[in-house]
Amino acid sequence: MDIYKINGGKKLSGEIHISGAKNAALPIIVGSLLADGITTLQNVPDLMDIRTTVKLIEHLGAETNFDTENNVLTINAKTITNGEVPYDLVKTMRASIYVMGPLLARCQEADVSLPGGCAIGARPVDIHLQGFEKLGTEISLEHGYVKARTKGLKGDLFVMPKVSVGATINLIMGAVLAEGETILENCAMEPDVVDLGNFLIKMGATISGLGTERIAITGVKALKAVEYTIMPDRIEAGSYLLAGAATRGSVKVTHIVPEHIEALLDSLEEIGFSVETGKDWASIQTTDTLKGLLVETTPHPGFPTDLQAPMMALMATVPGISVMIEHIFENRFTHVAELHRMGAEITIEGKCAVVKGGAPLMSAPVMMSDLRAGAALIIAALAAEGETEIRRIYHCDRGYEKLCHKLSGVGADIRRVTGGM
Ligand code: UD1
Repeated sequence: MDIYKINGGKKLSGEIHISGAKNAALPIIVGSLLADGITTLQNVPDLMDIRTTVKLIEHLGAETNFDTENNVLTINAKTITNGEVPYDLVKTMRASIYVMGPLLARCQEADVSLPGGCAIGARPVDIHLQGFEKLGTEISLEHGYVKARTKGLKGDLFVMPKVSVGATINLIMGAVLAEGETILENCAMEPDVVDLGNFLIKMGATISGLGTERIAITGVKALKAVEYTIMPDRIEAGSYLLAGAATRGSVKVTHIVPEHIEALLDSLEEIGFSVETGKDWASIQTTDTLKGLLVETTPHPGFPTDLQAPMMALMATVPGISVMIEHIFENRFTHVAELHRMGAEITIEGKCAVVKGGAPLMSAPVMMSDLRAGAALIIAALAAEGETEIRRIYHCDRGYEKLCHKLSGVGADIRRVTGGM
């Protein structure tokens, strides 16, 4: 298995071109199944999760071509069938549950393996299922599979008991071809949801209220296949700004939407970094007066849970006390034990982590436990003196395109070595 070897202690400096957003691309790829034609998607990042999703839709009958050099994915979804989505595909990636919406809309049935547990908590799908029941679907659970059957989805009012990005996305995809009007309340306002909505509108869907808590969808008879460009990855952008900050360098991320990372930029300013933004870029620079801060993860436009671990790596380098409260997932502090090995002083109580920052981080052999925990270790290793070896780096292959290349481009000493343990 590959490992990363990082020689830390070098200030990162320069520009990083940000890729298309994984979390927008995944539902949009699945959403292309709603039209019986050829969809062309631009700015699709070449990531493991994307390749798994491509396999998944091929399993359902789609024909695809992924030009990874140019990040263009074409999908021909002329013939789609409910080919039971196997556990092997679902277990690696929760977004597989998104096929429910399009399958119910096009085939009136969907058999999808339940995602099961995952490293960052239980991550149930009960809200997705309740929503589909409200839209006229009968759901049963058999041998680990969700079996969903409908005589045709029908619009209705559904108030989500909790803000869920996944459920909002899934139900929008079901509702666009349903009969009549669907009102979804307490919706996720994440940019990924908005990007999916804009894609569906381009296909001919009638949707209003994207980016607000209340989304209204009037079903249409059919959607047409279109060409669409995936929005930039705000989590990738945020991770590289945090890497720049942790090394006390100056990093500019380009091809982004700065408004998408406002909560992060506000936190960086609060710590004391100097932040600048332009139309499609953001940059940070170090100042002499850095101090700890309190961050709480909340649904968008709050601080994203996906930047919680990377932010904690920065907190460990900032003098004084910082506090991180994780409200979205109950078990998302698995990076802490590894950060301890690098000299970070962090104590956890329930959903709250207290970081006593400022002591120099040291290199150590460490191991990724999930995608964003992996990003945190890379950031800590870039800031630490000496050579850190990071294992299980396949987690980061799920979500960071050309990571080594991008970090080397701003002065990091990082190598991917084949054959580590
Ligand atoms: C979440 C994040 C998203 C991030 C992604 C990957 C939020 C609101 N969502 O999206 O920004 O990109 O993780 O890390 O920050 N829940 C239920 N029942 C359900 C669905 C969800 O109880 O049917 C709960 C979850 O356990 C969680 C919360 O609702 O506590 C938010 O979940 P959800 O937004 O659906 O998760 P993801 O779509 O994975």
